[in-house]
Amino acid sequence: MATEHRTAHIKTFGCQMNVYDSERMAEVLAEAGYRLSDSADNADLVLLNTCHIREKASDKVYSEVGRVRAEAMERNARPPMVAVAGCVAQAEGGEMIRRAPGVNLVVGPQSYHRLPQLLQEMDAQAARGKRPHVVDTEFPADDKFDHLPTARSVRGPTAFVTVQEGCDKFCTFCVVPYTRGAEVSRPAQAILDEVRQLVDKGVVDVTLLGQNVNAYHGEHAGGPLSLAGLADRLAEIPGLKRIRYTTSHPRDMADDLIVAHRDNPKLMPFLHLPVQSGSDRLLAAMNRKHTAASYLALVERLRAARPDLALSGDFIVGFPGETDADFEATLELVRAADYAQAYSFKYSPRPGTPAAEMVDQVPEAVKAARLAQLQDLLFAQQARFNEGFLGRTFELLLERHGRHDGQFIGRSPYMQSVHVTVPGGRLGDMIPVRIVGAGPHSLEGALVQKAEAA
Ligand code: 5AD
Ligand code: SF4
Repeated sequence: MATEHRTAHIKTFGCQMNVYDSERMAEVLAEAGYRLSDSADNADLVLLNTCHIREKASDKVYSEVGRVRAEAMERNARPPMVAVAGCVAQAEGGEMIRRAPGVNLVVGPQSYHRLPQLLQEMDAQAARGKRPHVVDTEFPADDKFDHLPTARSVRGPTAFVTVQEGCDKFCTFCVVPYTRGAEVSRPAQAILDEVRQLVDKGVVDVTLLGQNVNAYHGEHAGGPLSLAGLADRLAEIPGLKRIRYTTSHPRDMADDLIVAHRDNPKLMPFLHLPVQSGSDRLLAAMNRKHTAASYLALVERLRAARPDLALSGDFIVGFPGETDADFEATLELVRAADYAQAYSFKYSPRPGTPAAEMVDQVPEAVKAARLAQLQDLLFAQQARFNEGFLGRTFELLLERHGRHDGQFIGRSPYMQSVHVTVPGGRLGDMIPVRIVGAGPHSLEGALVQKAEAA
């Protein structure tokens, strides 16, 4: 069957790498003749790009599959083909189809470049009168990036670029080393080419992505490049204004990367550096390979290199065996490190990970109480961080349109959202703004006249 008029809808769950993967899958589908739609209504293919990091992720996927089909039935429409991609697909594989026959395709994060062939296989099965069921969760030896469409699509002045995938750290709570596989860095030239192409299309702010991004060690003509080396090469691209990266592991915060925060003016003063806990006993049980003190010493070195560095983090409360004293140590670390923003989670046992087998699991109510207490502290820090910008001026990147004419939502160097009115402004413009209002989640800016800014 010809695919010219088919419509696909992609729904993305989870992390920024899934957002990136969804964009790449959209490009693959477009090349295969699909029209992308923002709505699942009347789509021929609904692709769910899933996340497995915390509990109930796969339950959510199963109910989403049911919902997609039920909604089609309600409209008396033919139920769409359902594809499940991402980490739940990788973790569950063919089991998904046994549990939910409504799923037609299961495709892992390392094999989605093969979508055109997989969709053809589905068509072939359908032509034989069979309900299509195709599974591909291989970790192929070939590099998926070599097989993806070369033309990147662009949606505004910011973009993600995957530079590294997988993780060899094996934190005892985490599924990533199993779902995303071993740590692999993309060759530097491929990344430089991709970013250059994005910049040609108007992107000015790139975020380099990887599950353990600062372990990046990509091959390059003059010898392998570290993340700092890559950022320095990227900084040479005229037109690229801002470079960010996420997510980092404290153990891989190499000296040259700290120096780059001082010397590379395009590297933004914002760092997401997960710590998970402030208790050395728990950090050891988590196999984090660092202590609270070594983390804080690292933060101090980073701030010495870049005094305005804003820090973000990830925290887990209720890891097996966590006592009140362990939790107090986490609060202590948060007070010492001072976060501009952070993500915090209740520990959720993931099948197949060592921590899930640990005997001293923490009761749900204790986890909930600790999470609330931690989030109060982090929220207060975030509010104070934002209030500190009142009266200050910085360059704002106009990222999205606001609700009214001339209104924009911009991105600050520190990843804050700033609302501002700029008559005649265009997405992608860098505009000097003075901060005139500060809330815990966003700032309000006023345009600074050029003479005033100078
Ligand atoms: N339970 C709770 N949070 C988790 N994370 C990873 N695995 C788990 C888990 N099993 C959190 C960590 C990590 C972030 C991406 O998700 O804080 O840094
Ligand atoms: Fe998971 Fe991050 Fe630990 Fe790797 S470093 S195992 S991705 S939490």
